[in-house]
Parts: sequence; C-alpha cells; structure tokens
Amino acid sequence: MKLPFVVNGHEVELTVAADRRAVDVLREDLALTGTKEGCGTGECGACTILVDGEPRLSCLTLAGRLAGTQVTTIEGMAPGPEALHPLQQAFVDKGAVQCGFCTPGMVITAGEFLARRPRADRQEMAEAISGNLCRCTGYGKILDAMEEGRAPAATLNPCLPAPAGPFAGTFVSTSSVAGRPVYSPKSLSELWAISAENPKAQLIAGGTDLLVWLRNRRIDPPGLIDLGNIDGLRGISESSDAVRVGALTSHAQLLDHPCTNEFFPVLRKALLSLGSPHIRRMGTIGGNIVTASPAGDSLPPLYVLGAEVELSSAAGSRRLPIAGFILGPGTTALAAGEILSAIILPRPPAGLVHHYEKVGLRNALACSVASLAAVLEVNADSVVTSARMAWGSVGPTVERIAAVEAALIGSTLNRETLEKLIPLVRNAIAPIDDVRASGEYRRMVAGNLLLRLLHSDWCCFPDAAQEFSGEEDR
Ligand SMILES: Cc1cc2nc3c(=O)[nH]c(=O)nc-3n(C[C@H](O)[C@H](O)[C@H](O)COP(=O)(O)OP(=O)(O)OC[C@H]3O[C@@H](n4cnc5c(N)ncnc54)[C@H](O)[C@@H]3O)c2cc1C
Ligand code: FES
Ligand code: FES
Repeated sequence: MKLPFVVNGHEVELTVAADRRAVDVLREDLALTGTKEGCGTGECGACTILVDGEPRLSCLTLAGRLAGTQVTTIEGMAPGPEALHPLQQAFVDKGAVQCGFCTPGMVITAGEFLARRPRADRQEMAEAISGNLCRCTGYGKILDAMEEGRAPAATLNPCLPAPAGPFAGTFVSTSSVAGRPVYSPKSLSELWAISAENPKAQLIAGGTDLLVWLRNRRIDPPGLIDLGNIDGLRGISESSDAVRVGALTSHAQLLDHPCTNEFFPVLRKALLSLGSPHIRRMGTIGGNIVTASPAGDSLPPLYVLGAEVELSSAAGSRRLPIAGFILGPGTTALAAGEILSAIILPRPPAGLVHHYEKVGLRNALACSVASLAAVLEVNADSVVTSARMAWGSVGPTVERIAAVEAALIGSTLNRETLEKLIPLVRNAIAPIDDVRASGEYRRMVAGNLLLRLLHSDWCCFPDAAQEFSGEEDR
C-alpha cells in the first residue's frame, strides 16, 4: 500500500505491506531507530511515538494507521541536531538515563503529558508514565527530570515540526514485500461487502489484543478488516433511560465522558485499572468485550449494570444481554458476518453504591487475579435493598453468585454480614491455576474482596468503612 504521512515535519511516502507495524516502518524503512522495540506486546512503552499529537505504542499500531497523519518520534523532539529539548536536557542533568533503552518512549510520553498538564503533581506524573517501564534508572530520577523539565507548554510541545532531520524533502521508500491484506472500510455498507468477500479476515479495532496474538502466532488470518475508519462505530449518546456507547469508543474516551462518572462509577473505576494510559487510549470497549477474557476489566461492571450488546450485520441488528453474549473464554455469540456495534447501558437510579476492585500483581499493566464489581442499593438504616455483584478472573466467564446476592438483600451492610458470606463465595467458584495465581489463592481473594466493599471510594457509609481494618490477605 501507499503510505503518505509527515514524520518530524517531513513529508514521506512509502510503499509498505499493509500489515506491517509502525515501529518496523519507522526503524527499518526510515532509519528512525530512536524509537525502540522492547517487548513488542504493549507492556514497556519503549516504542511510544506521537500520532497527531497523541501517544501511541508503535508496536501495536498497523503502519496503515499512519496514513495522512503527523508523526513525531524522539528524533523530532530536539530543536536541532546539536541541541536537546529542555526535557531531554533535564533527563541528562538529573541522571534519569542509564542504559537509555526506555528513554525515547519515556521522554515522548512525559513531553506530551507535560505539554497538556504543565502543573501536574508528582503523583499525576507517575500515573502518566505508568505504561513506560524502566529497568535500571529508577523512577525517582525520572520524576525529578519531569519536574525540572517543565517549561511553558509551547516549548514542551513535541508536535512542533522539527527543522533539520534525517530527511531532505520528500522521502520515498519501496522496500517492502507483500503481506496479508488490510481492508479499511469507511462505512458499514462497505464493511458488509468486504466481509462477504473475505469471510475469514479478522476484524481489528484498537489492535491491543489482536497485534499481540499475531506477533505470538496465536492466530494467522488471511487478512485484516480495520474498523478504525467507520466513524459511526464511535461515540457516546444519551437518551432519557440509557446510554449508547459505540463499540470503537476507546477506554480513554469513555473515561473522559461525563456520563461515565455520573451514572457508571463502577465502570469508571474498572477502566482506570485497565492496562496503562497508552492501552486505554488505544484499546476499545468493543474489543475488550469480544476478546471475552475472564480477566477483561470492563466485563464485571457491564454485568452488574445490566448492559446489552448491539450486534449488527448486513441483515440488520439484534440485541443480547451481556451475559448471553459471552459464552466462554474467547467465545461469544457473534455470528458469521456480525460485528459488535454498540453497548447499551441502562441508567441506574441515583444514590447506589458503586464498587470495583481488582487484585493484580502490580498497580499498572496488571491482568486481574480476581476482581469484584458491585452495585448495591442501601437504605438509610444501612440495610441492602438490592444487590448485583460480579466476580472476574475466577471462572471461565464472569461469575454472578445468586446465593450471595440473595443473602445480602435484607441484611445490614457491615463487616459481620460480609464475613458470613465469604464461604458462600469461595464454595461457589472453581478458579483455575495459571501463571498469575493458583486457583486456591484466587478462591481466597474472591471471598476477601467482599470485605473491600466497606472500603469503597463510593461507599456512602463512612461508619461502615471505619470498621474495615485493611488487614485482609489480598
Ligand atoms: C500491555 C497490555 C495490557 C493490557 N491490560 C489489560 C487489562 O488490564 N485489562 C483488560 O481487560 N485488558 C487488558 N488488555 C487487553 C486489551 O487492551 C483490551 O482487551 C482491549 O480493550 C481490546 O480492545 P482492542 O480495540 O484493542 O481490540 P482488538 O485487539 O482490535 O480486537 C480484539 C478482538 O476483538 C475483535 N473485535 C474488536 N472489535 C470488534 C467489534 N466491534 N466487533 C466484533 N469483533 C471485534 C477482534 O477481531 C479481536 O478478535 C491489555 C493489553 C495489553 C497489550
Ligand atoms: S515495544 Fe514494548 S510497548 Fe511497544
Ligand atoms: S534507563 Fe535503562 S531501562 Fe530505563
């Protein structure tokens, strides 16, 4: 395919195989080797570039997604070949570089963040770089450099076109070989026609799962159908009784939308724990649902919120409750030629307790070992009048335990009540052993997660929260 884009202020046009990754095109075709590949699976951030000013992991970006964009790599941040950007200089001055492998991705991520949030505090800065791993310097010095490298937003804006760079004028490369085709429909009608002609081609949305599977050779589809250019699949619209979320809405877009905070705090908290800022910007809610991982963070909240999925094909649309859509790990009720087009969330009544907690192996970039989403109605006497609870990562699909919900209704929400319910939870589930945790540990954590209800940010019962000692084994 022809791939015209602007990189560091220079127009380039390449002819590349459509399924190549942006990191390969930048490094191999354009010799922009400042962009590093560490993990190749979205976990280290070393490959971070800016696409139209937004951080993107170039190892999880199809090269075709660069067409018509403005790309900034680390080579484009410095004002000239002999000078450093103020933030780069701060990294040097503060000793924030040792082997230097993480530094390009770290500086790009930090530079974009500080341009937007020049007065951010240290905690916010740490969150901003939580998708960028450094294995030798230590984050203290990197945060020192970010504090030192603050400057007026204009000078920190890495999107400014770089003057002299590695190219002179327009650069044309035709170095590539043919790969698997990538189709890019611009409308649903184009999508139906392409799907009919290429029934084995795989849909790609954000690519944060799919490009990892391709790299690991877990799948080998004959072609890809990129949903990214179909605008109708994005966005959030509200009616009096429900909110409709387009399947291609990214986790970050959902988090930024006021309705998520107002009506669905349980979903908001879950999405804040998903991956890293980079993954939340790139991954979509639809992709998270269709992947149907027992550890998928959006799923337990969608179960307790009573979400429905809208499935569309050339033949029309149908709706299913989320629990009827997810059939097992990686298995859904999607029929051939169908896509997930939207998620419909009924507006819950005001005043409910919304709670989500995930236990992982670390704070960022952690798949859940076990998680619990809960939406409870509790009256003025602290008695639970309705309860919807869903556990993630403790079975092949999200687990709702009817006996626990039934036992909670009519009970006072306090530690004594919840402690009595722990054995019910542990007996109702049969979690598996895997690389993250043993089944036995998951069983123990799933029960203990109940007690964390008393510690929820959204718990409207401060007295109950005080009863929580925080000593449970997590
Ligand atoms: C480093 C890293 C960390 C991660 N951390 C987490 C985490 O903490 N929690 C978590 O839940 N997930 C996590 N993920 C997984 C992933 O980011 C999410 O599942 C994401 O939401 C997937 O969305 P996507 O748009 O990238 O999907 P893609 O990768 O584009 O697609 C995933 C699957 O869904 C299908 N698909 C996508 N959209 C549609 C649609 N509209 N209709 C039909 N089929 C569709 C694709 O064909 C593919 O089979 C992580 C991934 C990485 C790489
Ligand atoms: S190379 Fe590690 S995130 Fe891309
Ligand atoms: S400086 Fe070596 S990984 Fe960060």
